[in-house]
Amino acid sequence: MDLNAFNINLGATEAIALDAKSEISAAYEYDTTLALESIIKEYASTGESQTLSFRSLVSWIKVGERATHYIHPYPAKLLPQIAHFFLAARGYFGKGIKVLDPFGGTGTVALETLLSGNEAYYSDANPLARLIAKVKITRIDPSALTSELEIIKFSYKQSRAKKAPDVVNLEKWFTPDVIRGLSRLKSSIEKIENLDIRDFFLVVFSATVRRSSNADPRLSVPVQRKPSNVRKNVSAIEIFSQQAELSIQRMNALISLSSEDFKSHNVGFDARQLKKPAPWNSESQKQLAEGTIDLIITSPPYAGAQKYIRASSLSLGWLGMAGSGDLKGLENQSIGREHLPKSVWSTSFVSSVPAANDLIVRVRQKNPLRAAIIATYINEMESCIAEMSRVLAENGHLVLIIGNNEVCGEIFSSSEYLTTIAEKHELVPVLKAVDEIKSRGLMTKRNKTAGLISREWVILFKKVSSKDVK
Ligand SMILES: C[S@@+](CC[C@H](N)C(=O)[O-])C[C@H]1O[C@@H](n2cnc3c(N)ncnc32)[C@H](O)[C@@H]1O
Repeated sequence: MDLNAFNINLGATEAIALDAKSEISAAYEYDTTLALESIIKEYASTGESQTLSFRSLVSWIKVGERATHYIHPYPAKLLPQIAHFFLAARGYFGKGIKVLDPFGGTGTVALETLLSGNEAYYSDANPLARLIAKVKITRIDPSALTSELEIIKFSYKQSRAKKAPDVVNLEKWFTPDVIRGLSRLKSSIEKIENLDIRDFFLVVFSATVRRSSNADPRLSVPVQRKPSNVRKNVSAIEIFSQQAELSIQRMNALISLSSEDFKSHNVGFDARQLKKPAPWNSESQKQLAEGTIDLIITSPPYAGAQKYIRASSLSLGWLGMAGSGDLKGLENQSIGREHLPKSVWSTSFVSSVPAANDLIVRVRQKNPLRAAIIATYINEMESCIAEMSRVLAENGHLVLIIGNNEVCGEIFSSSEYLTTIAEKHELVPVLKAVDEIKSRGLMTKRNKTAGLISREWVILFKKVSSKDVK
């Protein structure tokens, strides 16, 4: 397909001519520099945000499987097309660049970075997300995985169930047969000596945990299935084998789409304090040096609506990453959390963004906890944005993907508040776009708003030195 002067439908904006086919790698066939420059120019002349469809902008990326993106479900994953569009603009951002996602989740940006031939840096507060991200971007010989799967199945037959894991309300979520099956599987996987192969099967195991549980698969946090939907005769080993085969095919696709010399770096567990690269699951004591990163692409949590730890709780328990008593501690490190101890409410009613403070006052009259949650969110996000600005090189860029949400019937305009904060930290917006997508919201209820279309802001900032900021 020759995309030279190929016009694409961008919704409300004008059609834009894409660059000629210019292969970066097997997964990055087209350079999007012309399209990006054209929408930046439009923003510069109108100053207005533009409605775009990132799916249409990179229409050559088919919706569905792509390398290892779908090895494990996770709430509020980023649309790979958004990362792809920016990473493919080589003429704008450069080649062989260092790309960071401090709220890396399960590694959508890290994987697209790998596929685009750049160098990935990632962090996340949730240990399950970090494990999935690491596995997604680790190239492993598929034939070694196929052989290991046979060994696991054999070892499973010989194994006996061990002590039940520390999972909240274990018997509520799993039948006795499934608990025995998962426990035998886990001990078979733990025998694997090669750490990369073991981690791969731990991710398959984690996907099996959720699928073999009694939790409604349509919801991100565990909510029991309705009695009419409860399944009989669930077999953990069967689900595991099917999941493993699918994920080995995904690994095959990853190998054929990427190159061997890919570099990735774990830069810690907290977007407020990025660390020098360390082996993926260990913490470095030293700060990530300032000016290290060329491009940040990140989708931070929403305010007061995030349930990442609760959504991962069954897997965190089965994997031994966090038992029932550790979940609260992990949630406390998560930005956008829904709970705050009463003792801190009274100290957290003022945010660092004046425009948000009127809203906080209004929300406080209705619900003091929600007011404290949103003020805390803004203040914690300010620490993250300051950190992103610190690690960005001069003239480096940040792509921030964020949605506004409703708090006590009021619109909480994250896109506006985070832009105000970014401008305080030498980050100047050069493009504001709105993408209309299926809601990324984390649902807890099976309600009819579940499929609502929501809007996501995609804002591109450029780091300028403070002397150049007017
Ligand atoms: C919208 S999700 C990112 C999803 C990711 N882009 C993906 O495609 O999987 C936001 C992430 O921020 C993480 N998070 C929350 N607080 C954090 C913190 N203080 N430091 C780093 N990550 C944090 C959550 O664990 C969650 O994975």
